[in-house]
Amino acid sequence: MRLYNKYVLPKLIDWACRQNSSKKQREKVIPYAYGNVLEIGIGSGLNLPFYHLENVKHLTAIDPSIEIWNQNKCNLKNLPFQVDFMQASAEDIPAKNNSFDTVVMTYTLCSIPDTIAAFKEIKRVLKTNGQLLFCEHGKAPDKSTQKWQKIINPAWKVLGGGCTLHKDIPSIIQNNGFKITKMDVMYIPGWKPASFNYWGVAQIK
Ligand SMILES: C[S@@+](CC[C@H](N)C(=O)[O-])C[C@H]1O[C@@H](n2cnc3c(N)ncnc32)[C@H](O)[C@@H]1O
Repeated sequence: MRLYNKYVLPKLIDWACRQNSSKKQREKVIPYAYGNVLEIGIGSGLNLPFYHLENVKHLTAIDPSIEIWNQNKCNLKNLPFQVDFMQASAEDIPAKNNSFDTVVMTYTLCSIPDTIAAFKEIKRVLKTNGQLLFCEHGKAPDKSTQKWQKIINPAWKVLGGGCTLHKDIPSIIQNNGFKITKMDVMYIPGWKPASFNYWGVAQIK
């Protein structure tokens, strides 16, 4: 499993996240980022082309997997803002209190083992009037897909680097000190158990 996680999984995640359907989702969320931005679980940097260049001052990017970040194909030198990558987890963010105007998470919450600790950290590093931009796949609205999500999840979690198919995204956000100020949901094209998307904006309660 160690070799799979190091050599196979990063390429698989990059391929899966590169699909057109999630690209369209990134376009809907990332342009709203402004100021000092923290991207949690940056993966292979697929959001980088969607930041509005004139709105972002600086981007801090974290991910526990350096192997996934090494799949990044965006030339950082072509971006007008500096990108600092740090190998770190959402549960222990290497940043001072009240540092960021925007925290971005796309398709990351599914893979964070301790979401309570992660949101404590997000609350700590986000400015009081800052915003959390999110786009996540999660619990399906219909009973039959929910059933399949639960059946497939144990194997999926092992092969997908800890990704859980059926997290209740709005509840996790709202039960951890945030209010959702805007949210849309829909099935995006793709494999149904991993395709129900929730995206929007949240702020500290
Ligand atoms: C499905 S990938 C999504 C990558 C990227 N956010 C995107 O939209 O393409 C999930 C990412 O979450 C990262 N991750 C896993 N556990 C994490 C944690 N505890 N804190 C932060 N990121 C984590 C993984 O390494 C991986 O890069």
